[in-house]
Amino acid sequence: MYIGVDFGTAYSQAAVMEFSQPLILQEKGVYGTPSVFYYDQDTGIAIGQEAIDIAQGSLSVNMKTDVKMALQENKPFTADGKEFSCSEIVSEIFKAVLLEAKEIAANSGMDDEIKGMVITVPAKFGYLERDIIFKSAASALGDEKIPITGVLKEPVAAALHYFRTNVEDGKHILVFDLGGGTCDIALVRANSGSREFYDVIDSEMERIGGRNWDEKIAEYLKNEYEKMTGIAIGSNPAYERKILDAAIRAKHRLSRNDKALCSVEINGNVNKIHLSLQQFNDLTAPLLDQAVSALKRVYNRHVSDCEIDEIICVGGSSNMTQIKERIAAEFPLCNVRVYYPEYAVVYGAALYADMRKGKVVDVIDRANFSYGIQVVKHKGTENEKYKIQNMVIKDSALPASSVRNYRPTEDNMAFIAFRTYETDTVYERCDMDEFPMTKIGELKLKLPPNTPKTTDIRTQLTLNENGVLEVKAWDPEGNVIQTEFNVIQ
Ligand SMILES: Nc1ncnc2c1ncn2[C@@H]1O[C@H](COP(=O)(O)OP(=O)(O)OP(=O)(O)O)[C@@H](O)[C@H]1O
Ligand SMILES: [Mg+2]
Repeated sequence: MYIGVDFGTAYSQAAVMEFSQPLILQEKGVYGTPSVFYYDQDTGIAIGQEAIDIAQGSLSVNMKTDVKMALQENKPFTADGKEFSCSEIVSEIFKAVLLEAKEIAANSGMDDEIKGMVITVPAKFGYLERDIIFKSAASALGDEKIPITGVLKEPVAAALHYFRTNVEDGKHILVFDLGGGTCDIALVRANSGSREFYDVIDSEMERIGGRNWDEKIAEYLKNEYEKMTGIAIGSNPAYERKILDAAIRAKHRLSRNDKALCSVEINGNVNKIHLSLQQFNDLTAPLLDQAVSALKRVYNRHVSDCEIDEIICVGGSSNMTQIKERIAAEFPLCNVRVYYPEYAVVYGAALYADMRKGKVVDVIDRANFSYGIQVVKHKGTENEKYKIQNMVIKDSALPASSVRNYRPTEDNMAFIAFRTYETDTVYERCDMDEFPMTKIGELKLKLPPNTPKTTDIRTQLTLNENGVLEVKAWDPEGNVIQTEFNVIQ
């Protein structure tokens, strides 16, 4: 089977196409596998609902939630004396999702052998975060021969599924995906003419999602509880978890009702706290503003050159009534729809996995950032200066690449090593620290013995269609030179 997997902040899901329809490979009635990791020495590793169930009986400090939001810092997590890297945790979540998918496929008499996988990533994650997801997904497959056949931005995956039944050549849609940890936006155009492809015109992301809405309610409940009982809750993780669970339940209820009664129990002391939809909306108004501003930025950048008359809202958090109400009010010229909020992304991933079997369909995406290397000018003089030479420019359609000649700084060097940077600029050259930039790794060109420093090494840097950097190099005679690109761990 060709499978699509959406690794989410809150839930991870897998799906395949079966009889031309997407099918979630998860137990019936279950939203997805909670992206939760747990470890203790007696239990070992537990993932998903099992992890949550076990953690409730013991200290939740052994439980890691929202790991996707921790990839930027990429700090290890220690549980019961054992250290786990983010990448190990992500890989365990992928493994659990794939294992369940295979079991369900086998039990339903379907082909359970995975032949390829499409994964989804947030619209504007940096290279290092995407790299962790990509490599963790690949390692969870456990077999180097099983390819990752596509990497889609989450809102783009939802767009593919939407276009399936609503396709018109040249039609644009704006997707707003508010999940558990990210608010992702993409403007996508469908081309169903002689060659079917989808063009990702633009995308945006804010690092906010349902978890931030939860925190706002939890903060309110904690204050109310302390006011009502005079008991300070302090910062006990077990109590905080209980309040957070009450907050999430209230939030879900408020998607269908205009009030919720939250029951907060601490040390046998039960208190019922009322929360109205209006109060909830007021508490979370700044978050909604932030999400809608990102949507407006994309809309405003393109409204003069493309017809945007449809906004589709996906992601579990689009169930909140404030989302559709506000977007419809802000964009009166658009038809605003909430579209399979929990499933659109993974449905799109499954659909793309199926389409990619025959390699007939492409999604043309763009580089989120520029990628370049640090070069030194006027080395050894008082004018010595370090600059970034960008070789893949932000917003270029993928695959994007360029070729440049570089020379070793001395005779007989064994290799040339370049620090590689991701920068948020569209300029080919920039000074260090002139723009936001992140060092992402080191690029190495292995030189033949006795290479003089006057030798031009033709170097090509490519950001491929999956957003992965590749490097190739040649000596002046056109012989291929050994290269490597090592990402910072
Ligand atoms: N009925 C509902 N009402 C309000 N919020 C909901 C509802 N159903 C789900 N959510 C919220 O949606 C969020 C999960 O959405 P989703 O599964 O799309 O996120 P994710 O894919 O895990 O995260 P991300 O895409 O940001 O990495 C959670 O915060 C959850 O509380
Ligand atoms: Mg999501």
